[in-house]
Amino acid sequence: MNIKQNPGNHYTFYANDGRQILVRPLAADDTALLVDLFDHMSPESRYRRFHQSLDHVPESRIWQEAAQITHFDPAKSFAYIAFFSSPDKGLIPISVARYVDSGPGEGEVAISVRDDFQNLGIGKKLMRLLAYQAEIKGYRRLVASIQNDNIAIWRVFQHLPYHIFRSPDGSYANIIIVLTSTAVEDENDGILIPQPPLATT
Ligand SMILES: CC(C)(COP(=O)(O)OP(=O)(O)OC[C@H]1O[C@@H](n2cnc3c(N)ncnc32)[C@H](O)[C@@H]1OP(=O)(O)O)[C@@H](O)C(=O)NCCC(=O)NCCS
Repeated sequence: MNIKQNPGNHYTFYANDGRQILVRPLAADDTALLVDLFDHMSPESRYRRFHQSLDHVPESRIWQEAAQITHFDPAKSFAYIAFFSSPDKGLIPISVARYVDSGPGEGEVAISVRDDFQNLGIGKKLMRLLAYQAEIKGYRRLVASIQNDNIAIWRVFQHLPYHIFRSPDGSYANIIIVLTSTAVEDENDGILIPQPPLATT
């Protein structure tokens, strides 16, 4: 794969509507940004991401869960956070993608894009960056459990330059992305641009 990674691991890319998206690794003091992202997700998106209804959970639990995600063990997990730089609101968090160790050489992957930024190509590009990061860290595969009717995430996975296996499991499907198989044609060359570190916090 042909993405160049700079030492700070920061990137920019363009959403399909031309807006510039900034990406950096998630940091321990990003908890409030995750809560903001969650607040901008519809009940359906939350359900698709967390596989449970989260409409009536107390605010304290949302903060607790967000803090757990940001305070990860870097040896066992990694996450990117993406921002749009709004002229009036500054940097707003619009997406997070992460993987967590789930076995030898294996990471379980998850992603969310806030609803008003969905279907603009952001999920595809962020997932590609994340998979690339996992590959260079030595992971051999990423896995996920997705709802069968979640067309968007399936399309996101299918656009990755890796071989994908899908096995049905009731109303869900188990996905395996084989990171050692970069033979699939890479159609995104040149779209993702490494950047020097940003001051986003
Ligand atoms: C799944 C998700 C991350 C996709 O991110 P996104 O930025 O909206 O996706 P993209 O714009 O990159 O689109 C990816 C593909 O899905 C398609 N797509 C996007 N939204 C769609 C929708 N609502 N219905 C059908 N297809 C859709 C796009 O057309 C594109 O396909 P194509 O390029 O092959 O034509 C986002 O929808 C989301 O956060 N959903 C809620 C959480 C979730 O489902 N997470 C996945 C489980 S871990």
